[in-house]
Amino acid sequence: MQTSELTREAAAPGKRRVFSGIQPSGEVQLGNYLGAIKGWVERQEDKTNFFCLVDLHAITVYQEPEELRRQTRSLAAILFAAGLDPDKSTVFIQSHVPAHAEACWILNCVTPMGWLERMTQFKDKSANQERVSAGLLDYPVLMAGDILLYDTHEVPVGEDQRQHVELARDIAERFNRVYGETFVVPEAVIAEAGARVMGLNDPTAKMSKSFSHIRGHAVGVLDEPKEIERSFKRAVTDSGNEITFSDDPERAGVNNLLGIYKVITGRSSSQVEGDFVDARGYGDLKARVAEVVIEELAPIQKRYHEIMDDVGELDRLLARGAEHAASVSTPKMDEVKEKVGFTLPRS
Ligand code: TYM
Repeated sequence: MQTSELTREAAAPGKRRVFSGIQPSGEVQLGNYLGAIKGWVERQEDKTNFFCLVDLHAITVYQEPEELRRQTRSLAAILFAAGLDPDKSTVFIQSHVPAHAEACWILNCVTPMGWLERMTQFKDKSANQERVSAGLLDYPVLMAGDILLYDTHEVPVGEDQRQHVELARDIAERFNRVYGETFVVPEAVIAEAGARVMGLNDPTAKMSKSFSHIRGHAVGVLDEPKEIERSFKRAVTDSGNEITFSDDPERAGVNNLLGIYKVITGRSSSQVEGDFVDARGYGDLKARVAEVVIEELAPIQKRYHEIMDDVGELDRLLARGAEHAASVSTPKMDEVKEKVGFTLPRS
């Protein structure tokens, strides 16, 4: 196997390795952007970065095949448009690198069922479903494989993925105990601001691609300015008039709007509150938050359309990403196979 620049980088001591993933199901929403993508872009310097479009995860619930293909490309274009630099970050599609599915199988065999049944996301997603795929239960093991294959130190995610990263740690530790030191035990990196963007129609529920069809719930990263204004105008607040951060569940709507403004502007909580002392009520707050969101997304949307005009180049970047990713994960997978006692094919 050819040793690529990244393989050498991955082996370089001292350089932190970062891995994260995003599903190409549904439209990318503001929570994905503020909780994950924005931070990936800002922190890609001086680290070895892998960002994966997790199509294997996406099909744990049915996806219309043509739509999945379209959304996978569109998501890749959004990631590059948001500022992931192919020279600093390896961006690739999970199904292009067979080691991911292979790792999942082997890790399945060291993961007790009880660990999976306890996952809150599984419980939420399977509640009230007539039929639940085995894939949905197994989802966090596939995710553990994603992370562990790259000797990952840091996993930057939103708050909702914390439990899955904890599970990846438990699986790594168990494998290391049973078969000897093999995997780096990764850590979740969860930003203080933006880690939990809530729905605009219901600030007690996390903003989610799954509810994008509900009017006024989510802001899409590709939404037109007028649509963004409309979504914020409709945002649920409370009957008061105080524009300050608060833990009070009654005031979760205003808290969420201020949180969105805070992560986009990069200002401190007291500066943010200071920015609104002269505001004329919640209408003014909503308009100003919409304005910073529109300003933040405008250049990303412009670049997105440019990238989508040349999908040939986009596909080439993704092929290059997959090749780099495979050059790191295939040797790791060979090490894992060796550890569990498989015979490796001889050439
Ligand atoms: P996914 O596709 O649901 O979300 C991608 C990223 O966006 C974050 N996020 C949010 N952050 C703040 N507020 C929100 N409302 C919000 N909604 C989503 C998520 O926390 C995530 O960081 N299982 C993962 C994908 C995955 C993965 C991995 C992640 C697969 N393998 C390995 C890390 C490492 C998921 O479904 O993300």
